[in-house]
Amino acid sequence: MDTNGHGLLEGKKGVIFGALNQDSLAWHIAEAVYREGGRFVLSNAPVVSRAGTLEALAEKTESSIIWADATSSDQITELFSSVKESLGNIDFIVHSIGMGMNIRKNREYEDLQYEWYHKTLDISAMSLHRIVRSALDLEMINKGGSVVAMTYLGSRRIFSKYSEMGDAKALLESIVRSFGYRLGQKGIRINSISQSPTATTAGHGISGFDSMYEFAEQISPLGNADAASCADYTVTLLSDLTRMVTMQTLYHDGGFSTMGVSDQLIETLQAALTASS
Ligand SMILES: NC(=O)c1ccc[n+]([C@@H]2O[C@H](COP(=O)([O-])OP(=O)(O)OC[C@H]3O[C@@H](n4cnc5c(N)ncnc54)[C@H](O)[C@@H]3O)[C@@H](O)[C@H]2O)c1
Repeated sequence: MDTNGHGLLEGKKGVIFGALNQDSLAWHIAEAVYREGGRFVLSNAPVVSRAGTLEALAEKTESSIIWADATSSDQITELFSSVKESLGNIDFIVHSIGMGMNIRKNREYEDLQYEWYHKTLDISAMSLHRIVRSALDLEMINKGGSVVAMTYLGSRRIFSKYSEMGDAKALLESIVRSFGYRLGQKGIRINSISQSPTATTAGHGISGFDSMYEFAEQISPLGNADAASCADYTVTLLSDLTRMVTMQTLYHDGGFSTMGVSDQLIETLQAALTASS
């Protein structure tokens, strides 16, 4: 990983949602944004404050932390009001928030508990709408600003264990397009990054994660994209270098989404078949 910044985000300010621990995509993103000269407020759900992990990242990146539940319009509005007081207007927002309630409680897709399902959609998708809307209401996203959200290919292909999260990611990507049109008229862009399986707390929450990870690893010509490379890609999307890119689902997956099958996977399966016959 490049440890020297290139000043790509010099002078830019924003909010990064979703750093939980050192594995989190948002944790790596915060480090990369800081390296490139960007300055920001970190946010996560109030319950995370108990873990006491985020303070180390805040110290390292000279950030403050504002705790806010992404399902609460009041808390998100309060967050942006206080960001406006401390940082002024902002240039970027990173949404790296997700949670599958039914998945967490081992409820199969055919047997979804609907309150949890609603909560899953609220946390993982509607929160993007709420966050963008609150910042817009306060007229605090600068022209040229950029919003990035994290998604997964399960939005449009079925990964059996991804269950309700596939629906949540489909909604998230749709919000990116719907808001993208409106934001574009203000000179602001919004995209989602469709990331490889990555060993994080949310990733490991999906049963069969290790198999999904290995399957993608064996199919992707470049291998799975790790969190540090996801962070570097995010930097490009927050920078002015991508100023005409908006409303896209952008694949950051080592080529996985374009592949069918690879020699490596065929050989693995053939070896398994031979061993079992
Ligand atoms: N890990 C993967 O394999 C992978 C792949 C593609 C996309 N993603 C997406 O990347 C994003 C970040 O996930 P991650 O893998 O870094 O895992 P993570 O567990 O580190 O991050 C998820 C974050 O969401 C936060 N969150 C949950 N409920 C919240 C709420 N009500 N209010 C505010 N924050 C809340 C959590 O506290 C946590 O910080 C998610 O959208 C996830 O779906 C992950």
